[in-house]
Amino acid sequence: MIFHLAFSIQNLKLKVVVKFNEQQLTEFNRLVARYPQGKQKSALLPVLHLAQESFGGWLSNETMDYVAELLQLNPIEVYEVATFYSMYNLKPVGKYTFEVCQTGPCMLRGSNDIIAYIKEKLNIKAGETTADGLFTLKTVECLGACGYAPMMQLGKNYREHLTKEKVDAIIAECQQHATANN
Ligand code: FES
Repeated sequence: MIFHLAFSIQNLKLKVVVKFNEQQLTEFNRLVARYPQGKQKSALLPVLHLAQESFGGWLSNETMDYVAELLQLNPIEVYEVATFYSMYNLKPVGKYTFEVCQTGPCMLRGSNDIIAYIKEKLNIKAGETTADGLFTLKTVECLGACGYAPMMQLGKNYREHLTKEKVDAIIAECQQHATANN
């Protein structure tokens, strides 16, 4: 795991302290340097991506507070952005997140059937993660690949023209990948 957690006991509760390591901090500085002095707020989206990648694939309140502190923003400004975009996870997710588009063109091409099939196959509802922690299913709005409907995002890649057979193959591929990387 490439994130640093330090724990302190306060009033019998565990407090999680989130902090970028040196490499992540270098990347943070590179992202902020893309924008003019005093306009560090413009780096919020890529910095949230960096934070999500760095701290276990999701954005806890502690992580969003840390981002706010780094960018000298009010925490609410970070919460507003993080809760607006479906690409940010606000609770822990599985190793592989299926973000299936459910907007009109994908729906007309059968995304509802694909979503139902994934739910049945993985035995989860949208927004849930499998008990083994491998898969999360999310339904999202248009991902800009309507010509390849029905489609989903998996990590940084799009999986297009989905069929039940393709879903089976993708699940098997993820399981193999997880086994190989254990
Ligand atoms: S409607 Fe699904 S990608 Fe646009």
